Amino acid sequence: MTETTSTSPPTSTSTGEWLLQARGVTMRFGGLTAVDNVDFGVREQEIVGLIGPNGAGKTTFFNCLTGMYRPTSGQVLFRGRRLPPKPQAVTRAGVARTFQNIRLFNNMTALENVMVGRYCRTKSGAISAILRGPRFHREERETRERAYELLDFVGLRRAADHLARNLPYGDQRRLEIARALATDPSLLLLDEPTAGMNPQETREATDLIFRIRERGLAVVVIEHDMRFIFGVCDRVVCLVRGRVLSEGTPTQVQTDPRVVEAYIGGSEASAEEDSPAADKAAQPTEEAPLGGEES
Ligand SMILES: Nc1ncnc2c1ncn2[C@@H]1O[C@H](COP(=O)(O)OP(=O)(O)OP(=O)(O)O)[C@@H](O)[C@H]1O
Ligand SMILES: [Mg+2]
Repeated sequence: MTETTSTSPPTSTSTGEWLLQARGVTMRFGGLTAVDNVDFGVREQEIVGLIGPNGAGKTTFFNCLTGMYRPTSGQVLFRGRRLPPKPQAVTRAGVARTFQNIRLFNNMTALENVMVGRYCRTKSGAISAILRGPRFHREERETRERAYELLDFVGLRRAADHLARNLPYGDQRRLEIARALATDPSLLLLDEPTAGMNPQETREATDLIFRIRERGLAVVVIEHDMRFIFGVCDRVVCLVRGRVLSEGTPTQVQTDPRVVEAYIGGSEASAEEDSPAADKAAQPTEEAPLGGEES
């Protein structure tokens, strides 16, 4: 069902151009409103950053977009159609994600982890898999080739046979991206993809996101590393206490006094200030050049 209405995300200039639209999405847990009436949109091949202090509701919002949570109210449209709040249906529609807390199959190899991502697109059913007929073998071969190609794409071909649990942290994050790409998405949601990465790996992650866009995908990325966010995104949305505080180009958002306030010790600052993520967010002159000229 295609709908066009008055509640488009703030920067919409025309209808029909959004790949994904969230309208008035609210998520309550008991008395806590983690996501509060959020309008949000992503265009084809756009890279959008989602920032905000710890506990702002960023991950919860991703969970609402991907069917892990059924929003208390509001709706999510993908290519103009309502996305059912079921993870498998969301994946099949073309939305893939990675997780803030890496979720790999630790006792499987890197290659097998990517192949698992691919199975939502293969046609062989359980009977075919048990009988191991020609169709099963052909699909298995194609799935394997595609998985190798994706490992190559994220720079992990050499680690294809390594168990996921033995990979360094940065490699595990890239493996999650390869597995997400194996589902053939049009939109990729990344929840803190550079957390735990060193500066070199973070630069490579920037390059990887640009290459993902070149493959025709749109990307939404949650990160606390402001240098990374402002360097990679076309547009940035800042959430604070579940609400959109600021939205615009990287320059607009990084110079928005409300955003600076939210990050560097205003009343909105994180309640978990001793967490590593909060530390990163609270260093605008080194890790997080919020003011642009300051760094
Ligand atoms: N399943 C849940 N049940 C109850 N409260 C929850 C649940 N998930 C999240 N919350 C609460 O919702 C709020 C938003 O949490 P969320 O994890 O979305 O924040 P975040 O912006 O991703 O933070 P961070 O940057 O630390 O990852 C927090 O107060 C959190 O404690
Ligand atoms: Mg989070």
